[in-house]
Amino acid sequence: MNFERTLIITGGAGFIGSHVVRLFVNKYPNYKIINLDKLTYAGNLANLKDIEDKPNYRFVKMDICDFEGVLKLMQEERVDGIIHLAAESHVDRSIKDPFTFAQTNVMGTLSLLQAAKAAWEGAFEGKRFYHISTDEVYGALEMTHPEGIEPPFTTKASSGKHHLAYGEKFFTEELKYQPHSPYSAAKASSDHFVRAFHDTFGLPTIVTNCSNNYGPYQFPEKLIPLFINNIRHRKPLPVYGKGENVRDWLYVEDHARAIDVIFHKGKIAETYNIGGFNEWKNIDIIKVLINTTDRLLGRREGEDMDLITYVTDRAGHDLRYAIDSSKLQRELGWEPSLQFEEGIEKTVRWYLDNQAWLDNVTSGDYQKYYENMYAGR
Ligand code: NAD
Ligand code: TYD
Repeated sequence: MNFERTLIITGGAGFIGSHVVRLFVNKYPNYKIINLDKLTYAGNLANLKDIEDKPNYRFVKMDICDFEGVLKLMQEERVDGIIHLAAESHVDRSIKDPFTFAQTNVMGTLSLLQAAKAAWEGAFEGKRFYHISTDEVYGALEMTHPEGIEPPFTTKASSGKHHLAYGEKFFTEELKYQPHSPYSAAKASSDHFVRAFHDTFGLPTIVTNCSNNYGPYQFPEKLIPLFINNIRHRKPLPVYGKGENVRDWLYVEDHARAIDVIFHKGKIAETYNIGGFNEWKNIDIIKVLINTTDRLLGRREGEDMDLITYVTDRAGHDLRYAIDSSKLQRELGWEPSLQFEEGIEKTVRWYLDNQAWLDNVTSGDYQKYYENMYAGR
């Protein structure tokens, strides 16, 4: 079969990657989509069961650090675009094991860049290397308004009942990088390498920095799936510090749609911030999760509030993240589609309906790791 384009999506078996692979495989039957993933603890092919037999999909188990392997694959498949999501992604793990983060996020990205440069041999017309990064590279914003103020921006998705900003400042594309965790330091470093490959070799790169994602298929070490699962099983909810930290949440399918728009219409060498103007204090989200989970399980709403357990704060815990995505909205016309309340309802329902998926990823080695992680708290 002749395809119009052939793309590699790295990390396609992970949380966000699986949504991006699904969107591209279904929306572009004339593109061949190669999911390149090492299948670490976070990669799970069960995330892609519904599309694995499609004729335009291929899975390749490979480490992005395997330069020779990636180059050979790119040459054999005549790959003309890379959407790079593979990474170690959990801040708490990066505090315990920063080496793995430098290896995968920095060296792995460098290996992909070198492979793309070699495979494309300077013939960069029509090619694209799109690197997915995080808002955490910008560091932390101050919380100048702990009670919340009217935000300067609204979107269809952020015009709901909550929508507050906890300070006047937002992450814009021009901000200096100030990463604090080993995770964000490694992501920042990879972003610099991507831009350096554009500036030095002319590689056609794009970088995007997105806020916290939530939705189906997220590994239950991250706040939202972990807490939904714990509420269901009436296990303690470990809230770091006072639960006052603010994160800006985006439904994962909205991120995948942004990636689609930017991959096709974004300008080479540009950076776009992606976010929904949807700031929440952790403790407020946790209350929404408890109420929603209780209600969907037929319990009395709020019955499980006493599961909230304040634990020692995360080392170097960034206080506030808040993305200004107005450039993306203005220049490329993307907007988040879901109100947070709708997105959370869908998400809680998905985890409750997919207990087998959760049981599968929380068994065995992961469980042991998780027990060790909290042993010192
Ligand atoms: P995830 O941890 O769920 O998935 C990561 C995937 O990468 C897994 O499938 C894993 O097997 C694969 N992988 C890891 N190391 C690899 C290697 N060496 N070679 C090949 N594959 C490897 O991560 P996620 O939450 O889906 O995040 C995806 C990307 O988006 C990351 O680059 C992350 O920094 C970025 N991001 C995430 C968020 C978020 O809220 N989750 C927000 C903004 C940006
Ligand atoms: P997380 O989902 O790990 O994402 P990130 O650190 O990339 O923002 O955490 C989201 C927020 O929730 C963050 O402020 C840390 C906090 N948190 C807890 O309070 N308890 C937990 O068990 C976890 C995993 C996170």
